[in-house]
Amino acid sequence: MSISRDSFHSRIGFVLSAAGSAIGLGNIWGFPTNAANNGGGAFLFVYLVVTLLLALPALFAEIYIGNQAQKNPVSALGEACANRMPRVGRTVGKIGLCGAIMMLSFYTIVAGWMLAHALSAISELAGLAELSAWLSSDSTVRNIIFTPVFILLGAAIVHQGVHGGIEKWSARLMPLLLVMLIGLIVYILQQEGAGQGLAVYLIPDFSQVTDPKLVISAMGQAFFSLSIGVGGMMVYGSYMQKDKDLGKLVLSIGVLDTMIAFLAGLLIIPALFVAQHAGHEIFNNEELIGEGQLIFQILPALFNSMGTVGLIVAAGFFSLLSIAALTSTISSTEVPVSYLVEEKALSRKKATWLVSFIVLCSSMLLVAFFDTLFGLVIRVLTTIFQPLSCLFYFFVVGWIWNRGNKLTDKAVLDNNIYLKLWGNYLRFVCPVLLTIVFINVAFIA
Ligand code: PHE
Repeated sequence: MSISRDSFHSRIGFVLSAAGSAIGLGNIWGFPTNAANNGGGAFLFVYLVVTLLLALPALFAEIYIGNQAQKNPVSALGEACANRMPRVGRTVGKIGLCGAIMMLSFYTIVAGWMLAHALSAISELAGLAELSAWLSSDSTVRNIIFTPVFILLGAAIVHQGVHGGIEKWSARLMPLLLVMLIGLIVYILQQEGAGQGLAVYLIPDFSQVTDPKLVISAMGQAFFSLSIGVGGMMVYGSYMQKDKDLGKLVLSIGVLDTMIAFLAGLLIIPALFVAQHAGHEIFNNEELIGEGQLIFQILPALFNSMGTVGLIVAAGFFSLLSIAALTSTISSTEVPVSYLVEEKALSRKKATWLVSFIVLCSSMLLVAFFDTLFGLVIRVLTTIFQPLSCLFYFFVVGWIWNRGNKLTDKAVLDNNIYLKLWGNYLRFVCPVLLTIVFINVAFIA
């Protein structure tokens, strides 16, 4: 079975694919919105600290479990827990599949909005004003059309497999994303009002960094942004050759993800202030107006005020968001697909279509009961599901695996003091830190 298992053909292919999973709507919209809402620079500072102390170790643990097992997340967790609690590992793995489906059910809806806005700008450029107006206004019909379109795009990539699909496309799309982002930043920074936004974003007000709301938002944002806790990173880790220098790879993924979030902030926060300068109201009692919806109101208005160039900028910006969302979608889709292929002997094609169909049904459920379900699913996933999964990963790596601490065992064998420290950090510090976060998120926020 393992002989025919697909894999990444290069380290850079792995890093780009994993970074493609990490970089998505979370970074490009979630991060700047959160930063703008939580004091700009102070948020940026706490986000960096949290990423370093907790999110990167969690990412390491998740990738490590997958990489050691060279199997899908259900088998990987089952194997890691085989000695102590054989059933629990597989059960948690299966619950993880539901997490991936949950993530896809709302993510594909938002990604569909991005796609619609990109097409809206393009159709306006082509002189189709009526179509453009329809594409840029929220409607259930638009969701019913664009969510499936987005699911199909993801499925088309996933069904081509790891090397032919995921690796090839991530490697192509990621650099394109970076170039577009930098181009837009250069453009926006030349507009009036941008300087004020830049100052808010880059100069932290340290009196705010202990604000619990800020800390909790930063932690949630870091977890979602690094795609930890639904098995996507675990399955990518399993496609990587065993025992590569994982620490360095995880660090590269973290740096790329954080860099894109930082750049997105550098684009969006000055853009907000440019909009304000042009007479749009963006803050109400220091809170951003409309939060998640702001992007669909203020930014198109800003782009419109730039004339034809603005349309090109809008098309570029929303295409960029769609691309980022696509590479994130494919990692989550790969979680149940890898399980079905390896454990249920389905062909990759069949598995992809089956998973896409399930995602379609669940996203349509969210569309049908949008007001009740949409926010709820996002909240449950990011504030409960992801932290709990990560806590489990820490316990697996630190305590359960092979009746002891897998990493410190290896450190003793290799006589490696850094590995030993790292192992103990994952074993003792991370679970405690994460429990504190979880209690805060669940009971205080
Ligand atoms: N990290 C992705 C983003 O920032 C979202 C994601 C979460 C992707 C979980 C896969 C798994 O948008």
